[in-house]
Amino acid sequence: MIPESFIQDLLARVDIVDLIDSYVPLKKAGANYAACCPFHSEKTPSFTVSPSKQFYHCFGCGAHGTAIGFAMEYQGLGFVDAVKELAGRAGMTIPEDDRGHAHREPGQTRNLTEVMARAAHYYKEQLKRSPKAIDYLKQRGLTGEIAAKFGIGYAPDGWQNLETVFPDYNASELLAAGLVIENESGRRYDRFRDRVMFPIVNQKGDIIAFGGRVIGQGEPKYLNSPETPLFEKGRELFGLPQARQALRETDIAVVVEGYMDVVALAQHGVGNAVATLGTATTAIHVQKLLRQVDRIVFCFDGDNAGRKAAWRALENALEALADNKSIGFVFLPEEDDPDSFVRNQGKEAFERRVKEAMPLSDFLLRELALRCDLTSSEGKAKLIYEAKPLLLKLPTPLLRLQLVKRLAEASGFAQAEVERLCDLKSYIPPAPPKAKRNALSLTRRLLQLILQTPELARQLSVDLLPESPERSALIRLHQLVAASPEGPSYANLRERLRGAPEEPLIEKIAAETLGLPLDAEEVEAEFRDALDKLELGGQKRAFAELQAKAHRLGVAGLTQEEKQEYLRALAASGNKG
Ligand code: UTP
Ligand code: MN
Repeated sequence: MIPESFIQDLLARVDIVDLIDSYVPLKKAGANYAACCPFHSEKTPSFTVSPSKQFYHCFGCGAHGTAIGFAMEYQGLGFVDAVKELAGRAGMTIPEDDRGHAHREPGQTRNLTEVMARAAHYYKEQLKRSPKAIDYLKQRGLTGEIAAKFGIGYAPDGWQNLETVFPDYNASELLAAGLVIENESGRRYDRFRDRVMFPIVNQKGDIIAFGGRVIGQGEPKYLNSPETPLFEKGRELFGLPQARQALRETDIAVVVEGYMDVVALAQHGVGNAVATLGTATTAIHVQKLLRQVDRIVFCFDGDNAGRKAAWRALENALEALADNKSIGFVFLPEEDDPDSFVRNQGKEAFERRVKEAMPLSDFLLRELALRCDLTSSEGKAKLIYEAKPLLLKLPTPLLRLQLVKRLAEASGFAQAEVERLCDLKSYIPPAPPKAKRNALSLTRRLLQLILQTPELARQLSVDLLPESPERSALIRLHQLVAASPEGPSYANLRERLRGAPEEPLIEKIAAETLGLPLDAEEVEAEFRDALDKLELGGQKRAFAELQAKAHRLGVAGLTQEEKQEYLRALAASGNKG
């Protein structure tokens, strides 16, 4: 655990504007800074950074967070690594925890990335010295430039070559990084021997794993790093950092199956391809890509295995979808993979295929229809039965509705019947957002003001808060602020709320405050006003309760205090007319 106080010091030290500006050039826009959002593709800037509140918010895609959140999202880091990264930038050292020892995990991963970087450097050097490996790559149509772009190397033949770069060949890191294997008698040897080496690089630029291809024939064709503290197959994509710019330009990610597919596509000018690493596409892969682009096109081999892989990708992609995102499928001719296709037919032919990709809904219905005999009643019922788990995964009301309509058509059921059979609630479009300031509820306004000036939360009497969507957020903020010796900043609160149920609402309201042209005094005045109303509302509620009780039991049924209270309130409301 990193101490809470350190997180707060870090947030106070790192300026989010500097941080973001070093990756995404920011322009001043009123009190804030703006840019085109790095997390989705857009032409006009809706990504806003608040220097006073130290957070960013994208009005396009909803990306939102503090400096730590930015490092996590932009560089694909975990929380601890993001804190480490920012601490490094700010020249701060993460303190040791209570038990007095350093955090082993971050230290270990740092050592592992160093080990991986050193190995990658060695493999690259070895490639230069191996005519055999160079020939192999040339024969596969790659230039030196592309080999360098992907950091391709060569692990020479031999059992302990890595000894030449790691003087301590017995160091535990070599084993933990998956570079060496230990046999039963404890003897070590290099995992990768006589293979062309493809480094797998995370978004931060660290090498986290390798894929090694045998030169020519041999088993296994590709040998991959095992899962290590650095590398989890289901999260990583080969070629992602190299594709970044092309992803932004095209707003499409092409997902292929093989290392060589990515590299060959890049060689032919298709830069927006990434590959899964010998595993099925996961929802995490899809999520990661949809943060950078609005469309994913899966392009798998033309054979049966490719079709199966596409179906797995579909199943896993559903939950990560949104109505403004889309997914397509390209099925190449049976004998082709993306590598051979682009080599034989060229960039334009490949890009045409991507453009004409089959929509997810078509693929889904086609595959389901193939499994059911739609000429029989049983087959039509089976269609709905098979579609149900897929529909239930879809968080996209519009796409779901389309699918339901088409399923109804294909099965002969009525749309409402399909919905009922699949346990779907029919889609009700959301009410248009109430944006007008004076139409805001009191609790909403309170929340806005507190997010402007968190210190104000201290004065809140939470008992007076009426039932409302904002109530629990207000209570939580009150507690957090009351527990802090000095008024915490928004960014500070935001980090302490990480994972809390109130987080989405607080983000949303914080985003609203970006456009509020209020200075501190105005905020305070409005807050006092809101508190008065709250007090009044509380009195009204209390009065209503008393009145109900008096109605039930008669005034005689009230306690002495309640009676006095009741009379006072009656008189007060009488006075006001
Ligand atoms: P393919 O067998 O389709 O190979 O594996 P490929 O990409 O066409 O490779 P080349 O063109 O013959 O060099 C696709 C992907 O599956 C994983 C690798 O990630 C590979 O890129 N794979 C395949 C393995 O991990 N191990 C293997 O033995 C084979
Ligand atoms: Mn291939």
